[in-house]
Amino acid sequence: MINEISFKMKGKTILITGANSGIGKEAAKELAKMGANLVIVCRNKERGEKAVKEIKSYSANEAVELYVCDLSKQTEIRDFARAFSSEHSRLDVLINNAGTVYMSYGETEEGIERTMAVNYFAPFLLTNLLLDMLIKSAPSRIINVASDAHFSGHIDLTDINSKKNWNPWRAYANSKLALVLFTYELARRLKDKGVTVNCLHPGAVRTNIWTHTGILRPFMMFASLFMKSPRKGAETIIYLASSQEVEHVTGKYFVNNKARPSSKESYDSDLAIKLWQLSMELTKLSV
Ligand SMILES: NC(=O)c1ccc[n+]([C@@H]2O[C@H](COP(=O)([O-])OP(=O)(O)OC[C@H]3O[C@@H](n4cnc5c(N)ncnc54)[C@H](OP(=O)(O)O)[C@@H]3O)[C@@H](O)[C@H]2O)c1
Repeated sequence: MINEISFKMKGKTILITGANSGIGKEAAKELAKMGANLVIVCRNKERGEKAVKEIKSYSANEAVELYVCDLSKQTEIRDFARAFSSEHSRLDVLINNAGTVYMSYGETEEGIERTMAVNYFAPFLLTNLLLDMLIKSAPSRIINVASDAHFSGHIDLTDINSKKNWNPWRAYANSKLALVLFTYELARRLKDKGVTVNCLHPGAVRTNIWTHTGILRPFMMFASLFMKSPRKGAETIIYLASSQEVEHVTGKYFVNNKARPSSKESYDSDLAIKLWQLSMELTKLSV
């Protein structure tokens, strides 16, 4: 039966990155079912179009749109943000969900280590480029998909690429810690603007991310059989995007729909400010 609850996101525009698979796709399906206008950002046109079809058919909502953007490329992020801003008049919820782990060291055109570029610098740049729109659309929400992996992360501002002692898991942990630091710093900067900023750990979830694990792949594929389903893993995103309970909650780390403490280093506000300054330089946002 169609009732009011089913359409509680009607009229809201939600942008979600990496929604062609895993947690992001499940969140997109449910939020579309609640009546939102969904904008999904994917790096591959074919995979994106397939996801649009699936989201539309699951939700019986035709308002699902695809933009193609490789988030490891700052030029594509800028082009996407420009196109989105000229084609849309509001943005109610931005969900920075896309994430990955690269098994070998490599740098982007800007000289940024690739895992760090996709998991942290892309959300930093995209969010800042869309900030005026989010403020104009207030009350609005920003949701960053982090990870408990951040507990083992450490930010060395003199070696943001972790080049001195790089390994895939260290780069992933550091990128997620940077995302938590960014969440808290942005929440402080947006205080009184009507835009909330929160991050979350979705749990250990059976998704494609485990297929990128190199020689550990067989073990991780087996371990993933015991993990949460992508639908379960999407729950905290859906909650943060749609629940009235968190309407005014900002600057928190969520697990299973509850605010939880994050790592000690993630609360270092001096570090957060310095990371912000470095990120402005590396994304060429500084004047
Ligand atoms: N699964 C877990 O246990 C777990 C635990 C903690 C946190 N997380 C986080 O949850 C988020 C979603 O991951 P998932 O588990 O759902 O994995 P997933 O199924 O692999 O989804 C990741 C999404 O990000 C997209 N993506 C990766 N690199 C991209 C790029 N350069 N440009 C644009 N999109 C890109 C992927 O696109 P393609 O399909 O084209 O690769 C995919 O749509 C990630 O931020 C991840 O770090 C997951």
